[in-house]
This record gives sequence, structure tokens and C-alpha cells, in this order.
Amino acid sequence: MNNSVELKIEGKTYTLPIIIGSQDEKAIDIRTLRNETGYITIDSGYGNTGSCQSSITYIDGEKGILRYRGIPVEVLAEKSTFVETSYLLIYGHLPTKSELSDFSNKLRYHSLIHEDMLHFYDGYPSTAHPMAILSSMVCSLSAYYTDSLDPKDLEQVEHLIPRVLSKLRTIAAYSFKKSIGQPVIYPKNSLSYCENFLHMMFAVPSEPYEINPEAVAALNMLLILHADHEQNCSTSTVRLVGSSDANLFASIAAGVCALWGPKHGGANQSVVEMLVEIEKNGRDVNAALKAAKDKNSTFRLMGFGHRVYKNYDPRAKVIKAACDNLLNKLKKKDPLLDIARKLEEAALSDSYFVERKLFPNVDFYSGIMYRALGIPKNMYTVMFSLGRLPGWIAHWREMHFDNDDRIGRPRQIYTGETLQEYRPIGDRN
Ligand code: ACO
Repeated sequence: MNNSVELKIEGKTYTLPIIIGSQDEKAIDIRTLRNETGYITIDSGYGNTGSCQSSITYIDGEKGILRYRGIPVEVLAEKSTFVETSYLLIYGHLPTKSELSDFSNKLRYHSLIHEDMLHFYDGYPSTAHPMAILSSMVCSLSAYYTDSLDPKDLEQVEHLIPRVLSKLRTIAAYSFKKSIGQPVIYPKNSLSYCENFLHMMFAVPSEPYEINPEAVAALNMLLILHADHEQNCSTSTVRLVGSSDANLFASIAAGVCALWGPKHGGANQSVVEMLVEIEKNGRDVNAALKAAKDKNSTFRLMGFGHRVYKNYDPRAKVIKAACDNLLNKLKKKDPLLDIARKLEEAALSDSYFVERKLFPNVDFYSGIMYRALGIPKNMYTVMFSLGRLPGWIAHWREMHFDNDDRIGRPRQIYTGETLQEYRPIGDRN
């Protein structure tokens, strides 16, 4: 195999090195391109651009493979917990018993947020989307750790990691409580990470609340499946913001904002809204397919398609199977699951979707599971944020301590006016 390629521009030949990853992924290293040739590359949407080298997560989109630190995500979803998987992603290896217990204890210990932050919630209208609250509250955490915000100081960073992991969960649950007018429920540190989240979401001071172990298992699985996905839009945002040496909380808050969009993590809410609409319209899945294929319409089949997967998203496969299981165990029925299955079946036998290799993605079935757990629609993307958090942290940490942390600064090809005169306002028409 060659370790370089030749590029011919204006009659001159340039040699560019090739970089090969541990799974034989190949890249042309163009770092010297502009200096040597005066040319840049254009790649809108970055579909052909590697922004970094990373040892955290491997995806083979053609084969439908997803591994965290080399471990298949299906195995982790079955055998691990969210806390253990978070450790794996951030620190690069499965924790020993004592490492896991130390990490879990830190997460327990840092579950409260500063009491003053509770007042922030009162400033939001009751109609506020919880993602708006989450992003600003996470950024506000930086106001409480002014002596630990140096991204180049590993000791300070290690100090913040369990805090952000634990507190984002508390902030998320409180935002739900505030939105429904119930008192916030303080964390109970005898509980595990996922138990504590359910407790803060659903307990009320006036009645006992029993945590359902099936719900805990489902939540662990869902969060694990969302925990990382290499250089997706929100993770790239976290890395880009972090590359300016912005602090961890500010970088994570930016990731929350990027995730919110319906083309990314916001799709889980849009999927359920779409399924509810189909139910209202007499369950006609073909009308939805027709609209999704219509190039004059902006409607897309939500929860379908992916930049990287040209095969079934392995996370969607696990969630689809788990949906049925959870509904049975909770003795619940959900007509949306039936509609989703029919819609999937119809899409996968439609040439439009087949030719474009559009399959269900992670968001297609996850909302149905959140519904079964009693989590309201506008909290689905918050749940995704909770799951994706260890991935964001792992990438931010890798960038600063193991990797190339030059500031992210793409270039452009300018297509605007050349030199233009400034005309006084009276001379303009
Ligand atoms: N419904 C209908 N058509 C679609 C869909 C869809 N969901 N997704 C892609 N297509 C079509 C496009 O219109 C395009 O068709 P064309 O070749 O005739 O122009 C072709 O498939 C390729 O699509 P692109 O938009 O170029 O694919 P891209 O990689 O840029 O976008 C994305 C990927 C954003 C996920 C897209 O598939 C989409 O919008 N899906 C719906 C939203 C969604 O589920 N997002 C969640 C993704 S997973 C995640 O981020 C957690």
C-alpha cells in the first residue's frame, strides 16, 4: 500500500502523505496543501473531511458497526451500566472495581447544584423548552467553578468531569419538575445514577415513590446507546468550541445547543410528533412516505437516514427490540409502536428509501421508549444530552490532552463583491 498520493495542480506534482487508522480507514493528509499549492479544499457538511484522529469510537457505516473503545455497543447495552460506559469512554478502559466505585462515589457526591441556581428556573416562562434551560444552566455552572476552569490543567479538568456528569442530570430533572409546577426533588445519593434520575423526575414529597428496576435497566441501555458517536454535529461543536480553550461547561453547553436541532438529536421529539400526526390522520403511513419523497415539500421522514450509516443503525436495532420488551414488562400498550413498525416496513420496501440507503436511525424508536417511561416529549432531546455527555467529555479531554488541539478555524472561498465604494446614505437608491 502506498503511503502517499500525488496531486497534480497547474502542471506541478505535489506529494501528500496518507494516514491509515487502526481499522484501515484511509485519509490524505492535506495539512501542507495551502502553503505549498495556494489551494484549499471545499467540503460543505464535512462529509469527506476528517477533523482529527481519535481513539474513542469506531463506526463502519456500511456494515452498521459501532464500538466504544473497541467494544461493540450491543455488548455494552446488554452488559454494562451507563456509569461504567462513561468511564470507558472518558478514560479509555473498563474500570476496575475500585475505579468504578471511586467514580460512582464522585457522581453521587456531586449530585446537588448550588441552591442559588434554583432561582434561575423561576426566570423562564412555563412554555420554555427544557433544552433552552439545559444549555444555559450548564453554561452557568462555569460561574460556580471559577478556580477550576483551565482546560489545560488536567487536575482541574478531572475535578469538573464528575461534577458536570452528575449535575447535568439534576438540572435536567429539575427543569421537568419546574415545567409541571411540582417542587424539585433533591437527589438521594444512596441511589444509582439512573435510579436517582427517575427519583428526581417522578417522586413527589407527598407520596412514596417506588423505582421500577425495568425502567432503570431501560434507561441505562438507552443512555449507553447514545453515549458517543464520534465526530457528529454536537461532538464536533464541543471540540470546536473547546479548541478555543473555552471551559468545559461552555463547550458542553454549545454541544447541547447543536444537539437540539431536528436534523440531529431533536429528531427524537419530531419522530413522536410525526407518529402522533399519522395516528390522527387515520394511520395512513403511505401519506407520510409520499410527503417525505416530495421534493417540493420540506417534510422528511424523521428518524430516518444518517450521514454515516448506509445500513441499519445498530442502535436502532437494539432499541426496536427493547421497545416491545419494555412495553410488555410495564404492561403498557402504545399505538405509536405499531405505526412506527408499519412506517419502517413501508419505507424499507420503497425504492426511494432503498436507493438512497435510508434506514431508521437511533431516534426512530427511542421516543416510544421514553414515552413508556413516562418522560414527556419535550424532554426526549434532554435525555439524549444526558446520554451523549460522556462522549462530549471524552472528546473534549482527548483533544486537550492526547491530541492535536490547534484552534478549529475552517477557511472559505469568498464569492461576494470585490472592492466596493462606501456611498453616503443620501446617494443610495
Ligand atoms: N426523508 C426523506 N428523504 C431523505 C431523508 C429523510 N429522512 N434523509 C435523507 N433523505 C434524502 C435526501 O433528500 C437526499 O435525496 P436526494 O439525493 O434526492 O437529494 C438523500 O436522501 C441524501 O440525503 P442528505 O440530506 O444529503 O443526507 P445527509 O447525510 O446530509 O443528512 C440527515 C443526514 C440529516 C440525518 C438526514 O437523513 C435527515 O434529515 N434525516 C431526518 C432527521 C433525522 O432523523 N435526524 C437524526 C439523525 S441521527 C442523529 O443525529 C442522532
